[in-house]
Amino acid sequence: MKAIRDELLVFEQSPLYEYRTANKYFPVVGEGSHDAAIMFVGEAPGLNEAKTGKPFCGAAGKFLTELFESIGVKREQVYVTNIVKDRPPENRDPTPEEIALYSPFLDRQVKIIQPKVIATLGRHSMGYVMRRYDLDLELDAISKIHGKSFETAFIDDDNKPQPLTIVTLYHPASALYNGGMRETHKKDFEILRKYA
Ligand code: URA
Repeated sequence: MKAIRDELLVFEQSPLYEYRTANKYFPVVGEGSHDAAIMFVGEAPGLNEAKTGKPFCGAAGKFLTELFESIGVKREQVYVTNIVKDRPPENRDPTPEEIALYSPFLDRQVKIIQPKVIATLGRHSMGYVMRRYDLDLELDAISKIHGKSFETAFIDDDNKPQPLTIVTLYHPASALYNGGMRETHKKDFEILRKYA
């Protein structure tokens, strides 16, 4: 994980690198237990995250922590990261090019942590993770497949397939502009209780 951090610090080929350094932002590698059973993957850091280097530390993160607590999980128990590790300007969505550029870091993090479950937060993370782990045929609109689980595998460093469950969740920020979504999030999170 230290090597990933060091590489991200000098990731000059990223279109987000200059924006990061000009604003004295940090890359956001991820945070939590390296032995976590559940790995959460968001989209990209926002302003608070870029200023602190910590994932999900703003308003969406506060709700995410609440969701962890609702299933009896402590934040330190899980691993939280994003596909894109630098903040896109104006909190715009990450571009396909940015996702392609940063996703190898996420792939390496999966091999280090070897989670039982990857819970995707939002459609960008869902799209990348499902395609990456051979679930293209199951991919659908997030409104159709939120709160569901899919069985697949990742290849470990010894070239052995290891079972992996992908759980597709809405991005926690969606509850910030639509309060009615909070109960949907809580209900969807219940699927993770058995892995906690
Ligand atoms: N939204 C994300 O997708 N990731 C963060 O770290 C914060 C907000």
